[in-house]
Amino acid sequence: MRKTVKPKSPTETPSLVIRPAIESDLPALEWDGAYMRFRRVYANLFRDTQSGRILMWIVTTSQDEMVGQVFVMLKSKNLQSASDRRSAYVFSFRIKPHWRNKGIGKRLMNHVEEDLLMRGFTYVTLNVAKENLSALRLYQRLGYTVIGSRAGIWSYKDHQGQVQHVNEPAWRMIKELCPH
Ligand SMILES: CC(C)(COP(=O)(O)OP(=O)(O)OC[C@H]1O[C@@H](n2cnc3c(N)ncnc32)[C@H](O)[C@@H]1OP(=O)(O)O)[C@@H](O)C(=O)NCCC(=O)NCCS
Repeated sequence: MRKTVKPKSPTETPSLVIRPAIESDLPALEWDGAYMRFRRVYANLFRDTQSGRILMWIVTTSQDEMVGQVFVMLKSKNLQSASDRRSAYVFSFRIKPHWRNKGIGKRLMNHVEEDLLMRGFTYVTLNVAKENLSALRLYQRLGYTVIGSRAGIWSYKDHQGQVQHVNEPAWRMIKELCPH
């Protein structure tokens, strides 16, 4: 699925496209070196898109310049024992600094939620770092509520094969999806 979005402001902002990442997008996901350390992580995630376990959405300009991204892990874990409700987990949500505060993040999350509804998902969950107050505020405005706390301790192999450890205490948030 590919969607063209027109940011509300500023008026000179060009049309943007939301689409699934393809393999040739992987270098651009490193954001000119800022996220080079995630090269292996992204390559593994891209492999998981092939089996349908992961969705990697990107926002680009009409000239295919990378503007932002969000990834989704599709899970079928029951949240309530007596139901078949399914939850998906959103992560790596980022808009490039120059493009922030134009409503693009909100539109990207709306797109993800509409897509998940069509796939039969009922809940979206995510983690937000406790110190990331602006993202927390945005998620709350989008209808997410805090349901718990996570230690946020994980590790990954960087582009040089070195194990990097992350310690980022986070809030776990959830939103029940409802068709509009
Ligand atoms: C979090 C993030 C993805 C939000 O993306 P964004 O495109 O800036 O989000 P939006 O523009 O939709 O909303 C952000 C703010 O802009 C405001 N806004 C929305 N539309 C706007 C518009 N048309 N004009 C001006 N401001 C607008 C929103 O009210 C919101 O305000 P707030 O700071 O009071 O919450 C972005 O800030 C980012 O990449 N941050 C770094 C990475 C990160 O923290 N990711 C989240 C990890 S959990």
